[in-house]
Amino acid sequence: MTTLADARRDVAATLRDAGVPSPDVDARWLVAAATGVDPRRTPGRPLDAAARATLDVLVARRAGREPLQRIVGTAPFRTLELTCHPDVFVPRPETEVLVDLTLDLIDAVGPTADGPVVVHEPCCGSGAVGLALAVERDDLVVLQGDRSPAAVAATVGDRDRLAAAGRLRSTVHVHHGDLLAAFAAAAHPVPDVVVANPPYLPAADLGTLEPEVVDHDPHAALVGGPDGHELVDALLAAAARRLRPGGGIALEVDARRADEVAATATRAGYVDVALRQDLTGADRFVVARRPGDGPPQR
Ligand SMILES: C[S@@+](CC[C@H](N)C(=O)[O-])C[C@H]1O[C@@H](n2cnc3c(N)ncnc32)[C@H](O)[C@@H]1O
Repeated sequence: MTTLADARRDVAATLRDAGVPSPDVDARWLVAAATGVDPRRTPGRPLDAAARATLDVLVARRAGREPLQRIVGTAPFRTLELTCHPDVFVPRPETEVLVDLTLDLIDAVGPTADGPVVVHEPCCGSGAVGLALAVERDDLVVLQGDRSPAAVAATVGDRDRLAAAGRLRSTVHVHHGDLLAAFAAAAHPVPDVVVANPPYLPAADLGTLEPEVVDHDPHAALVGGPDGHELVDALLAAAARRLRPGGGIALEVDARRADEVAATATRAGYVDVALRQDLTGADRFVVARRPGDGPPQR
């Protein structure tokens, strides 16, 4: 008889041989996905034939370096379980820090006389960042946008699911389009806060990425252009024009080039430009404010 603990151990060995970076954790998730129970809770339970057949398929996919989140169909992000779709970037744990930085920025920018704080999130992908904000605060209007129709559909799907579950505390509008231009004709075209995790890798980096990334994330979600910084630079320039005076921006960037982004932000006229670190201590985020004088330009 094979128990769930046996199965987990065998799966971990298979994944280790295939070069999967976290074989023990992934084995636990795959056994749970195949059986519907966590093997840590019921290690002595027998693995039946049907679950064995399902598990074999899941393990073959993971050993082929398909990301775990795509196999189990969801990705955890702060308090959310987001749906994973084939053509949409899988949200990463490090991006959870971007939500904390944005919450701080919202507090610093403060409530406006005009009503709720307006947050624009271009390049929203699965919708992770903006949806987390809208679940955690009740005083926002969040506009999310992406150039990928698949990303827009994914964000709308999870927004509607969260709304139906009574978890969405702020209003979320989802738009299809390019960077901040996606919101130009929206009901709230002037943001108090802009947040984004845009594509920022140079095209030449594609060959250096793990199979889970290069073979499964859409390349348009990874690569900013030949240099990598094309979209980061465009976003900084556009937000410097569109943010309300005194508003703020929080960006996730290439940790190897965060200094460069900060220098670009300073040249673009931002103030209080600061680097912030991810959980490994790398400079992965840049936050900045638009000076508090002058009217916003559309
Ligand atoms: C790195 S993913 C980030 C997804 C999400 N923000 C997250 O952190 O999980 C970048 C996203 O930017 C989108 N994108 C790329 N170029 C864009 C553009 N010019 N305008 C709007 N979205 C764009 C891609 O489709 C992709 O969904």
